[in-house]
Amino acid sequence: MIHARLSVPNSYNETAERIMMIPPHLEVWARRVQLMVKPRRFEHVLRVAELACQMARANGFDEALAYEAGLLHDIARDVSSMDLLKLAPPECPIDAAHPLALHGRAGRALLEYWGYTNEEVLWAVEEHTTGPSPDRPISKVVYIADVSEPGRNVNHHIREMAFHDLQGALDLAIGSKVRYLQGRGIQVHPRTMQVFNSLNIS
Ligand SMILES: [Fe+2]
Ligand SMILES: [Fe+2]
Repeated sequence: MIHARLSVPNSYNETAERIMMIPPHLEVWARRVQLMVKPRRFEHVLRVAELACQMARANGFDEALAYEAGLLHDIARDVSSMDLLKLAPPECPIDAAHPLALHGRAGRALLEYWGYTNEEVLWAVEEHTTGPSPDRPISKVVYIADVSEPGRNVNHHIREMAFHDLQGALDLAIGSKVRYLQGRGIQVHPRTMQVFNSLNIS
């Protein structure tokens, strides 16, 4: 028995532990997310929820709401392009050319269709693809947790900074994304540009 347990990959144990930590009132939503996304994505979702919760706690925000938003943020991430376009009609040529960029807005539309109503969480889901509005702390922690969760193996410095300087971490995350895209001549989503222009960075 012990040998069998040791042979189980670590990620399985970690995921099982994270599943057990899901609050009872979110079990139905978690099950829905699990049915909507690929298994690897569900592991990512659980890591984002946990990290967003920790970041919210460190910055004095509502940690339960941050967890909830992290859990729901990618609910439409594995929806087909055709369905993304139906759920979130394009607002700009980038949306039309890259429907994957719509999965935040599509996630919000799906949640609303299923009767979900918390506005802070809905905004965090909607904005996690393009960047958080300045006055939405839950959107900020979900955005940063999403780009820096340990499974991504990048942005460790942004993750660490978010625990003591959330705005600095956001400036870094959005600033480096915009400069990376602009440096390669790739058009930046207008919503991301709006967030970038609202930041206090040069
Ligand atoms: Fe996403
Ligand atoms: Fe994500």
